[in-house]
Parts: sequence; C-alpha cells; structure tokens
Amino acid sequence: MKILITGANGQLGRELANQYKEKKTIELILTRRSDLDISNINEVYSFVNRNKPDVIINCAALTAVDKCETEIDMAYKINAIGPKNLAIAANEIGAEIVQVSTDYVFSGNIDKSLTEFDKIDPLTIYGKTKLEGEILVRNHNPKHYIVRTAWLYGDGNNFVKTMIKLSETNTTLKVVNDQKGTPTSTVDLARTIIKLVEDKNYGIFHCTCKGECTWYDFTKEIFRIKGITTTVLPCTSEEFKRPAKRPEYSVLRNYMLELTTGDITRPWQEAIYEYLK
Ligand SMILES: NC(=O)c1ccc[n+]([C@@H]2O[C@H](COP(=O)([O-])OP(=O)(O)OC[C@H]3O[C@@H](n4cnc5c(N)ncnc54)[C@H](OP(=O)(O)O)[C@@H]3O)[C@@H](O)[C@H]2O)c1
Repeated sequence: MKILITGANGQLGRELANQYKEKKTIELILTRRSDLDISNINEVYSFVNRNKPDVIINCAALTAVDKCETEIDMAYKINAIGPKNLAIAANEIGAEIVQVSTDYVFSGNIDKSLTEFDKIDPLTIYGKTKLEGEILVRNHNPKHYIVRTAWLYGDGNNFVKTMIKLSETNTTLKVVNDQKGTPTSTVDLARTIIKLVEDKNYGIFHCTCKGECTWYDFTKEIFRIKGITTTVLPCTSEEFKRPAKRPEYSVLRNYMLELTTGDITRPWQEAIYEYLK
C-alpha cells in the first residue's frame, strides 16, 4: 500500500513516518511544503496523479493559533482549501484521505467532555478554518477519516519544549490554570490513525490521550519528571491575554473509537513520562 504524508516535517508527520517505516508492506511518500504546497490546486492534482497513493494523510496545517487571527486568508488557504484539494485529488484516483483536525471546532464553554455527536461552534479563525477543512473533505471524498486531536506534542515545537526552555532562564513561571484539556502524544495519535486506516473505519473520530488537566498541572508534571526546580504559579487567562480566545474546557472523549475500533490511547501522564524519559 502506498501512503502519501503531507506536512511530513511537522510533529505528527514525523511520528507517522517513524511508525509506518516499521511496516514492510507500506511504501511511503513524504512531502514537506517545499515539495508539495497543499494550497496549490495544480501542484496537488499533478502530484497525486503522478504518484497514485492509496491513502493521503494530511498533516499539513497552519497551527499557529494566534497568527491565524491576523493571517486569515493564509489560514483558509492552508487549513480549508488545502484539505479540499487533497480530498478531490484523492477521490479522483479512488484514494482515501485522513484529515487531522482539532478540539478548537468546539467553543469549550460547557463543562463536559465532548463527543463526535456534540455541537460544533468554533470561537477562533483557526477553529473556523479547520472546521471548513473537515466539511470540505467530507463533501469531496466519501472515503475519509477525520481525526480531531488536542494539546499535541512530539518531535517539533510544542508547549513541553517551550516550558523546559523557559525554566532555563526563570526561577518562577506563571502558567494558566483555568483552561482544561488533554495533553496528547503524537505516538498515541499516530498509532490510532494507522489502526483506523487498517480497519477502513471511515468517519469522524476524537483522539486524545486519556484524562484531563490544566496547563498549570501539565507544567508541574513536566517539571516533576525532569527534576526541574523552577517554581510554577497558577494564573488566569485574563492575566495572560492572547489574540485568539482559548476554550475553557476542551476535553474530548474518544467516543467513536470506544464504539468501534477501540481506544488504544494511554493516560496523558503515562505518555508524557515516556516522551520525557
Ligand atoms: N499542535 C497542536 O497542539 C494541535 C492541536 C490540535 C490539532 N492539531 C492538528 O494536528 C495536525 C498536526 O499538527 P502538528 O502539531 O504536527 O503541526 P506542525 O508541527 O505545525 O506541522 C505542520 C506542518 O505543515 C506544514 N505546512 C504548512 N503549510 C503548508 C502548505 N501550504 N503545504 C504543505 N505543508 C504545509 C508546515 O511546514 P512549514 O513549517 O514549512 O510551514 C509544518 O511542517 C494539524 O492538522 C493540526 O491542526 C495540532
């Protein structure tokens, strides 16, 4: 089976490539933005037609949530038009598509874990563009897997690395304690995507690690595992204003996985321990 991974130099792209390389029957095509710009319709159609993958896994996205608030056109081009181009190109050759999406398609205003059957209501440009990406993929290719994740870390830039770096130059750090979510390792997400594709289990899925915490709790756990002595103090979102509004309670329940293929993700504490060790 031939698998095209777009955005292969990002956190998730790298982990998927690592895991697929272990599988002898898989032929991988890995593209970075310089090889294939997903927002360019002609590039996408000719690349996909020439290479004829069986599955396209789209890991490319504009993930800088605050930047999306000002670079709106760019956000729509990468997060909505890009997936649309890939979905149409895949459909024309009978290929499947995996589109990775986000908890930001929800408002996160309700204190309840969210399933795939709950109401979507994005608050930010990032969330809106990612939602359009989901809709366009669903409309243009029936053989789709839409996988929503959150608070992702792996091989690349992420919250975990930022906090460790900040601890090197600060004796005290204030971290937001009124936003809840689930830190998720790219290892767990990639394993789940591979399983969904093996099972041909099409549809919309939530995939985060298990449990929940605030950014403050998460930082405390990172520092505990690493033996970092920097003091962590809780603060409010109000004290740490950002251009894009963050959801307050953004805990996803992997309900469709529970009901179908099975949920193979680990508790978030186990996954972060393995990542840091
Ligand atoms: N990170 C999170 O916390 C998080 C949370 C929820 C959902 N997600 C979703 O999970 C998926 C993977 O995220 P990630 O953290 O692995 O992302 P990432 O590390 O930011 O990687 C995204 C990759 O996309 C590439 N890219 C951007 N524009 C492109 C274009 N026009 N054509 C081709 N490639 C392009 C980027 O390349 P350049 O660096 O060269 O621009 C980058 O390598 C995304 O769909 C994201 O929306 C992430």
